[in-house]
Amino acid sequence: MSNSLEKTSISEKGSNASKNRGTDSLSYQSGFANHFASEAVEGALPKGQNSPQKAPYGLYAEQLSGSSFLALRHENLRSWLYKIRPSVVHTRFAPLPMRQLRSRPFCEVDATPDQLRWDPVPLPQGNPVDFIDGMITFAGNGDAASVRGSAVHIFAANKSMETRFFYNADGELLIVPENGSLELRTEFGIIRVAPMEICVIPRGVKFQVHLPDGTARGYICENYGPPFRLPHLGPIGANGLANPRDFLAPRAAFEDKRGEFELLAKFQGKLWSARVDRSPLDVVAWHGNYYPYKYDLRLFNTINTVSFDHPDPSIFTVLSSASEIAGVSNVDFVIFPPRWMVAENTFRPPYYHRNVMSEYMGLIEGVYDAKPQGFVPGGGSLHNCMSAHGPDAETFSKASTDHLRPIKLDKTMAFMFESSLAYNPTAFALQTDLLQPEYVSCWRDLKVHFKSPI
Ligand SMILES: [Fe+2]
Repeated sequence: MSNSLEKTSISEKGSNASKNRGTDSLSYQSGFANHFASEAVEGALPKGQNSPQKAPYGLYAEQLSGSSFLALRHENLRSWLYKIRPSVVHTRFAPLPMRQLRSRPFCEVDATPDQLRWDPVPLPQGNPVDFIDGMITFAGNGDAASVRGSAVHIFAANKSMETRFFYNADGELLIVPENGSLELRTEFGIIRVAPMEICVIPRGVKFQVHLPDGTARGYICENYGPPFRLPHLGPIGANGLANPRDFLAPRAAFEDKRGEFELLAKFQGKLWSARVDRSPLDVVAWHGNYYPYKYDLRLFNTINTVSFDHPDPSIFTVLSSASEIAGVSNVDFVIFPPRWMVAENTFRPPYYHRNVMSEYMGLIEGVYDAKPQGFVPGGGSLHNCMSAHGPDAETFSKASTDHLRPIKLDKTMAFMFESSLAYNPTAFALQTDLLQPEYVSCWRDLKVHFKSPI
C-alpha cells in the first residue's frame, strides 16, 4: 500500500502515543472519536464539500454510515471515502461454511451456571489457517434482530490473508492479540498491533489480516450493540483511565491492484463470499469520525485505592458499549494492568463475588492475582450471571495472612468482556478437550474458619 506522508491532522510528537513501546513504526492520527481528514495523494480530498460533481483524480465519493442519519450529533458516525471504484462492484454473495464461527442466537446447547475455564487454543500446525478461518466462537449473547449483545471468539492463525478481504455487518470487532502481532490492512490505512495493544474495526470496514510473526492468537469481542466509547469518569475528573489522545487512527493508504480477490462478509450471523477483480483497499483519501483505531494497554492510567478495600473492577474499564438502560453496559472491555497494591487491612485480591453481569476473562501476559494456577495466557474463563466466583483456596489462604506492605503487581495483563446479558457457550466450548473439567475444584479446599462466640 502506498502510505501518505505527514499531510494530515495532529502530530504525535510529544503525546503519550510516542511512548508506544511496540515496534510499530507507522504514523497515526491521535485522539478518540475525532473527526479526521487524511489523504494518501495530495489533493485527493474534495475541498469544502463531500460529493462534488467530479471528485479529484477521478475518484468515487462513498459515504460509510456507522449510525442512523438522524442519530444525535455526538453519536453520529460517518466517514467519506474517496475510492478508485465504489464498493458496489462485486459478484453476488454465496454462503460460506462457518467452521467454528457462530453468531446470534446462541442456542446450540443450554447455558450452564457452572464456572467454566479453558486451556489456550493451540496455534495451527500444518494446514494454512487465516484470521477468518481461525476464529472459534466460545460464547455469545443477544437476539438475532436486536442491536444488543456480543460474542467471544478466539482466533489462532498461521497464514496471512493475501487475496481475501473481510467486513462484518453484524458488529464491530475488538481484537486483543495475545501471541504474535497483526498487521491490519484496512480501507482507512494500516494498523499494526502486538500483544498488549488492541484494535477496533467498526462494522462494515473492509480489511485483511497479515501475520508479521508467521502465527498469531488472540481474543475478539464482536460487539453487536452501540459502538465502544470511553467510559464516563465521574468524580475521577477530566483525566484518567484510557486517555483519548492515546487512541490512534490510521492514515490513508491504498492499493491500486487488479486481480482475483474474495470479499467475505459476515451478515445476519452467516459468512458470505463474493468475487472482486480489484483490491477493495482502494481508498485514496478519507475524512470523518468512523474509522478503525488502536490503543496500547500499557498507557492505561490506573486508578485504585490508596486507603483500604478492593474497589469494584469498573475502575479498570477501557471501553464501554452502552445499552438502553443508563449505566448498564451492553458489554465492557476491562483490563487488570500492572499496578501498586497498597491497601491497608484489606483482602487485596478480588473479593468473592456474584454478579448480575456475566464475565468472560482472558489473559494476555503473566498471572492473574486471583488465580495463579490454571488460568494461562491464551486461555479463558466464564463466570455467568450470578455464578459465584473468587480467589482459589491457596490465594485466599495467602492473601488473608500476608504481611501487608506496598507491592507492585507487575508483568501481568488480564482482561474481561463483561456483559449485562448472560453468555451462552457454544457447543464447541462445552465439548472441547480444552475445557478444564476440574476447574471448580480450585475452591474445594476453602475451609470453614468460623468460630461462634456463643
Ligand atoms: Fe467477577
